Amino acid sequence: GAAQPVIVAIDGPAGTGKSSTSKAVATQLGLSYLDTGAQYRAITWWMVTNGIDVEDPHAVAAAAGKPEIISGTDPAGPTITVDGVDVAGPIRTQEVTSKVSLVSAVPEVRARITELQRSAAAGAERGIVVEGRDIGTTVLPDADLKVFLTASPEARAARRSGELGRGTDVKATQEALVARDRIDSSRTTSPLAKADDAVEVDTTELTLDQVVECVVTLVEEKRAGK
Ligand code: DC
Repeated sequence: GAAQPVIVAIDGPAGTGKSSTSKAVATQLGLSYLDTGAQYRAITWWMVTNGIDVEDPHAVAAAAGKPEIISGTDPAGPTITVDGVDVAGPIRTQEVTSKVSLVSAVPEVRARITELQRSAAAGAERGIVVEGRDIGTTVLPDADLKVFLTASPEARAARRSGELGRGTDVKATQEALVARDRIDSSRTTSPLAKADDAVEVDTTELTLDQVVECVVTLVEEKRAGK
């Protein structure tokens, strides 16, 4: 018969290769893919665009239920829309990036987005790779495999600057990453954390292909019942 759907949770801080790894693993295994950071960015983009004061948690909480966020989960071309508007570009701006940790710390925002994530996982027929910060600890605690990616701050900043393009200040990027980690790791509601049963993979000295191979092997071992 058909294989049971497999749920893979990939967590870790920014710049550890979560998105590239998750997409490649999903593609290789024929699974769906969900970028949960994009969902937090999308709700942040909506708040900023609609003049909500993101420094005010009450205002953010009151607005949390308003935007309709839809994620397309094909790893070959993931999509994200807010009230029907394609926001794949605008959610990557410096402005959204600098505000997303504030917005995503608000419990009403997390409750709303967590619900979207659980229904995406439940609806994925063959299974799904879900990447984020709290997937293994909070969103999908029964995931078949949990991976926690790490890398040195230097490696993370260098990768992120590479993505942002030439002329990017690596030192400023590193400072911004560290500041975002601090907020993401210290918030009260489901902070960035490694689940007790997650496999930690330090990617500092590994190529993307090596990380992907490692995670694919872990999934196959789980499927084989090891
Ligand atoms: O993965 P990313 O850098 O696109 O994520 C953007 C922000 O979203 C991150 O700084 C914290 C938040 N986030 C979160 O709080 N929980 C998640 N599961 C994913 C992202």
